[in-house]
Amino acid sequence: MNKDLIIYEIFPKCISEKKEGKLIDVINRLPYLSELGINTIWITPIFKSPQKDSGYDVSNYYKIDPIHGDEEILKVLIEKAHSLNIKIILDFVPNHTSNLHEWFIKSENKDLFYKDFYIWRDPRDGKEPNNWISKKNTGSVWEYSKKRKQYYLHLYSKEQPDLNWQNEGVRKEIYSAMGHWLDIGIDGFRLDVVNKLSKVNLDKDTDHAEIYYQNMPDTFEYIKEMREYFSKKYRRNIILIGQAEGIDFKLGEKYQENLDLVLEFANNHMGRGKNYRTLKSNFEEIIKVYLQWQQNQEYWPTLFWGSHDLPRAASRYMLDDDGENTGKIIGVFTLIGRGTPIIYNGDECGTLNCNFNSIEKYKDVRSQNIYNLRSQAENKNKVFSDIRAWSRDNARQLIDWENNLQVSKFYKSCIEIRKEYNDVISFGKLEYETCKDMIIYTIKKNDKYIKVTFNNSNKNKKIDLTNILLRTKNNDGENIASYEAIIEGNL
Ligand code: GLC
Repeated sequence: MNKDLIIYEIFPKCISEKKEGKLIDVINRLPYLSELGINTIWITPIFKSPQKDSGYDVSNYYKIDPIHGDEEILKVLIEKAHSLNIKIILDFVPNHTSNLHEWFIKSENKDLFYKDFYIWRDPRDGKEPNNWISKKNTGSVWEYSKKRKQYYLHLYSKEQPDLNWQNEGVRKEIYSAMGHWLDIGIDGFRLDVVNKLSKVNLDKDTDHAEIYYQNMPDTFEYIKEMREYFSKKYRRNIILIGQAEGIDFKLGEKYQENLDLVLEFANNHMGRGKNYRTLKSNFEEIIKVYLQWQQNQEYWPTLFWGSHDLPRAASRYMLDDDGENTGKIIGVFTLIGRGTPIIYNGDECGTLNCNFNSIEKYKDVRSQNIYNLRSQAENKNKVFSDIRAWSRDNARQLIDWENNLQVSKFYKSCIEIRKEYNDVISFGKLEYETCKDMIIYTIKKNDKYIKVTFNNSNKNKKIDLTNILLRTKNNDGENIASYEAIIEGNL
């Protein structure tokens, strides 16, 4: 496995003038990104899509959506990125398509070849085939088709019908669509919700439907089949990153047999309850969970605090400042750790939540669904305040690159340190301790080490400091300031 990747996630609308999401703007950002020091870009879906869910509803896997550009411009991007030693990873959505995809339209019409491309079931007593509720769409996973007089399954919105991965025809189509982009020269894929490909026991009712659609044995077989398909076809290594929320170590290891990296969301959902309710959470606990994943020598995790599915990390974990120190702390935890860092675009500028003042401004399909459902029975102001805190729109706004240059400079330094200590980080062992609001972790390889000390309290503290490489506040001496993180190291 390539442990050298430093990934930068781009949600195209965040980086492009007027929020257009054009690939040309990614090209224009390349010098900046190369200067920042990252070596891999993951771009969220750019394929043809009605954009009900920001491109995670694909209507043609072979075409770039005109809002982003076309294949020619992607080729230019790949060439320019490669000339700067930056890899390009595209987001691919294998679990579902848009309901406007030709396959779905044909399937609904019972076209012979496409008839079983999706998961269709007859009504049960005139109603849904089972009682499953999706965590993500907030309602039943079934939608009735008048045309076909059957229900189809959708774990996400009703405009995102799930493909039937049991059907070999589906798998072949997906692999060849992916192959199309690999032939053009991309370096790999981020596979959207790849842990949900196989569904079982559709005839059974349950209040915890995820036990029948998450991490099923066949899902691992499909991923293996996909990996083998690409290994046979391509001589170069194809990077496969799989999104698999809510897994434990064991499942993580199993996924990593055929995926290079797994987006575990180990700690990212802590503090967020059902339908965006806020739960009590403790920063120290969140960091501990994160470090526990890094402690497991058998596993190589991903390190991320922000993404297009989360609010801005600096807003969420805001410490005692206006965002500058917190932004830097997020940078330390993302970049100095045992795993592959993924920076979400704009976090390196200390970007904060958008904090819109009316519900109409939140356009994301999940925010809208949750607001509509909850506000039927709950106080609208309370629901709105949860949307403001958790909406994915928070992290989907145009970035102000000049927002906080101190944070940007700090990220750059962290990346330099990360590269310098790559050998220690890749092959060393991580240990951590927590004591009286101090969180300390060290990655050691023989006598070489890199160490992070974080003071999670509002008091300055005296500690022994040697070989300081970088610190989030400009304090001097033997003190670690309140809510400061300090990186030390020795090679
Ligand atoms: C993943 C994506 C998310 C999308 C969903 C459905 O969770 O990260 O943005 O809404 O899948 O495709």
